[in-house]
Amino acid sequence: MFNLVLFGPPGSGKGTQSTNIIEKYQLVHISTGDILRAEVANETPLGVEAKKYMDQGMLVPDEVVIGMISSKLDATPDAKGFIFDGFPRTVAQADALDNLLEFKNSPINIVLSLMVSEDELKSRLISRGEVSGRSDDNEDVIVKRIKEYHAKTSPVADYYKGKEKLVEIPGEGTVDSIFNALCAEIDAKLD
Ligand code: AP5
Ligand code: MG
Repeated sequence: MFNLVLFGPPGSGKGTQSTNIIEKYQLVHISTGDILRAEVANETPLGVEAKKYMDQGMLVPDEVVIGMISSKLDATPDAKGFIFDGFPRTVAQADALDNLLEFKNSPINIVLSLMVSEDELKSRLISRGEVSGRSDDNEDVIVKRIKEYHAKTSPVADYYKGKEKLVEIPGEGTVDSIFNALCAEIDAKLD
């Protein structure tokens, strides 16, 4: 198995690059943001609860997301590997993921961290907000999402740095050039 975490702040291109990576490497895409938005759209009890946090740019409680990941891993036992997009977002989530993967004897192989300046993040998300219909793509909530990232998510980078799994990738430039840089790191690990 090959397990990859695509890491980075809101708007760094995790979703965009995941689409290309899953196609090339046949990995199963797990985006907690996408799963949560589907729960919100279906008005499930989980979605109703999660929406309160998402609309404010706050992280959904760890136990909710960890439970979602656990069921998703169980639902695809034959996967060649997973790409985690937007998860883990806290050190507690990173710990939980390590424990879940230990049962499968297939740890995280690499964490690719997309580096994008704050001005670029804001301008990308504001532009996306004009077309996406996402309730969290407006200026006030974008600022809160970035603040939440610095407070709770950036320590996850140190967590993986300590395990020598973190590779930083410049996340500005064309989608193709960033994709090529990501593939070079993945290929080096697969060899
Ligand atoms: P989530 O859906 O994960 O959102 P996010 O992290 O805020 O990131 P985005 O999806 O907005 O950005 P992205 O990095 O995927 O960039 P994208 O490719 O879209 O989370 C949403 C909410 O759900 C959270 O706030 C939280 O409440 C909750 N949640 C989710 N996971 C959670 C967890 N694990 N724990 C707790 N709560 C959780 O690109 C952005 C834009 O830029 C696009 O318009 C794209 O076209 C454009 N773009 C991409 N690449 C480039 C480029 N190279 N040049 C120019 N533009 C580009
Ligand atoms: Mg995304």
